[in-house]
Amino acid sequence: MAASDAEATGNAGAGTGPGGEKKPIFLVYGRTGWIGGMLGKLLTEQGHTWCYGMARLQDRAGVQDDIKRSRCTHVMCAAGITGRPNVDWCEENKVEVIRANVIGILTLADVAHLAGVHVTNFATGCIYEYDASHSIGGAGFTEDEAPNFHGSFYSETKSYMEEFPRRLIPKPQNLYPTPYTLHPTPYTLHPTP
Ligand SMILES: NC(=O)c1ccc[n+]([C@@H]2O[C@H](COP(=O)([O-])OP(=O)(O)OC[C@H]3O[C@@H](n4cnc5c(N)ncnc54)[C@H](OP(=O)(O)O)[C@@H]3O)[C@@H](O)[C@H]2O)c1
Repeated sequence: MAASDAEATGNAGAGTGPGGEKKPIFLVYGRTGWIGGMLGKLLTEQGHTWCYGMARLQDRAGVQDDIKRSRCTHVMCAAGITGRPNVDWCEENKVEVIRANVIGILTLADVAHLAGVHVTNFATGCIYEYDASHSIGGAGFTEDEAPNFHGSFYSETKSYMEEFPRRLIPKPQNLYPTPYTLHPTPYTLHPTP
């Protein structure tokens, strides 16, 4: 069941299946975005109970309210500043980028953690670049490896968000039965016109 933007998902019995088993309720951030839009479509197609979050991520009280009204068990965060027309925008607008991509994500993670709600953050692979140990076609990066790409401010904020939450919230065991590996795409920083 999909919920409209402003509507809570708390319909009667939404949290239980036919056999009384608990069903997840999803709260999605990134309503106007590319990935957030696709997530909404997928959740609807798969018959899940879900709604979009309305708060800015850095608005702690707003996020608390979203979590409360949705009665969510899981947050999917596809919100963040990506820059328009491209990530180079972030170089000249660092305060806004920090507010959303760092303070916002940490606020969401903290509020959800205190509420016992699981968070999936759709971050980016653009925090790695090929190096001596990771050549094109060779070994990929595992999620335990520290980010090594520092060529853009956008990527820098995303790197922080891989590092900090790992310290804030211990990684659940057996989340990935096999190591997740990532092959970076070569990235070029274009000068802002
Ligand atoms: N697209 C890709 O290829 C790609 C690849 C790797 C990673 N990612 C990451 O995935 C996430 C979503 O990407 P996308 O391509 O869907 O981005 P997008 O189309 O630019 O959408 C970004 C979304 O984030 C929201 N947002 C921005 N700042 C916010 C804030 N402070 N609080 C709440 N919402 C905020 C925007 O809402 P408003 O319109 O209201 O500002 C918008 O809905 C981003 O974090 C991005 O870094 C994307």
